[in-house]
Amino acid sequence: MLTEAPKGTKDIYGAYMDEWQRVEKIMREICDDFGIGEIRTPIFEHTELFLRGVGETTDIVQKEMYTFKDKGDRSVTLRPEGTAGAARSYIEHGIYNNPQPTRYFYIGPMFRYENTQKGRQRQFHQFGVEMYGSYSPSLDAEVISVAYELLKRLGINDVMLRINSLGCPQCRKKYNDALKAYIGGNIDKMCDDCRSRFEKNPLRVLDCKEERCQNIIAGAPVVLDYLDDECREHFETVKAMLDEMGIPYEVDDKIVRGLDYYTRTVFEFVSNGIGAQGTVCGGGRYDNLVAECGGQPTGCAGFAVGIERLLLVLEAQNGAFEKKQEKDIYIGAIGQAGLVKGQGITYRMRSAGIKAECDSVGRSVKAQMKYANKIGAAYSVILGDNEIEQDSVKLKNMATGEEEPVKVSELFDIMMAKKA
Ligand code: HAM
Repeated sequence: MLTEAPKGTKDIYGAYMDEWQRVEKIMREICDDFGIGEIRTPIFEHTELFLRGVGETTDIVQKEMYTFKDKGDRSVTLRPEGTAGAARSYIEHGIYNNPQPTRYFYIGPMFRYENTQKGRQRQFHQFGVEMYGSYSPSLDAEVISVAYELLKRLGINDVMLRINSLGCPQCRKKYNDALKAYIGGNIDKMCDDCRSRFEKNPLRVLDCKEERCQNIIAGAPVVLDYLDDECREHFETVKAMLDEMGIPYEVDDKIVRGLDYYTRTVFEFVSNGIGAQGTVCGGGRYDNLVAECGGQPTGCAGFAVGIERLLLVLEAQNGAFEKKQEKDIYIGAIGQAGLVKGQGITYRMRSAGIKAECDSVGRSVKAQMKYANKIGAAYSVILGDNEIEQDSVKLKNMATGEEEPVKVSELFDIMMAKKA
């Protein structure tokens, strides 16, 4: 137990972390290009926020939340997702008073007590984007374009965008009635979970993964057939905008998403190459959430990408990640004087942005050269008493093996010149 991370969690380090940082850098660059500012909300919130926001009948709220009483006897929950917290913050700080739309992104851990499997963890990380303050289809299209841009800049080619519309609450009511009539006729063949879902929120029946229920769900009425004129028009405009932006998509009338707050557009980016948990990104419009959480009615749209799943896609496509090893110079030492001098030069170089490394474990000269190779040093020197006394050392180009004599006192300037 002591030496094992809790089930469903992962340590992030090494080559995996390098790739993670590369991906995160691209996310931040995209947000900068699209004018999306970062928001950091607390890892835990009042439980009530998720009950209201995510929805009491969802699997997340019913089965998956890490909820506990704090020492002040308040019920708090580790955030299972980022949308509710960001909306709470938008209301709390009166951000709606600023010129709209407001555009936020976040990167951070989320927590769901799920059955773990490949691509499904209990602590996982999301890159999320939320936009507030517009009912226009432009907002939906813009949000989708951010997610698409991420996959494009990462060079991911195996992921497909699927979109659907759930309509507004009025369309949903009509659809719910039709769904109820259909499911009601089949409910005795469905699982216990579906029976209780059916009572509380028939739409949630469509989330069921059990095979016997899936077979029945396949024949269920589809929400697209119940859209009113305005919702249909909205969906058509979103699609026209995607066409205009050159973003390929498929309409998938089975997408309902597992959270209650969606209205109108919903979408997912799905990969075929990483197994059952292929949804890398999910999102949509959610026009009722802000009001549901105590604010004014506000048009909003957003998405979240699962970072671990995105890395699974990258690994499946590009092969195992490799530890990035790029050092400008390795400064080896023989003896005490070389060690001391080397430490000084290394620090000066690092301060100036040169990636330098010196011996810090007392290796033999041979082992030091091997190490210099291993860390991918472009150059190396070995400083001994003679080199320091005569102010002369051989600077070795590690790629070609060529050596040039340089002054120890000029080593810093030479490396600065090479780096420039
Ligand atoms: P979600 O579909 O629940 O939506 O999660 C978004 C993404 O997070 C999923 O597509 C998946 O990549 C990743 N994810 C979810 N659960 C896990 C898990 N247990 N392990 C690993 N990855 C996971 C939301 O969370 C919404 N808040 C998205 C949103 C933002 N909608 C509007 N704005």
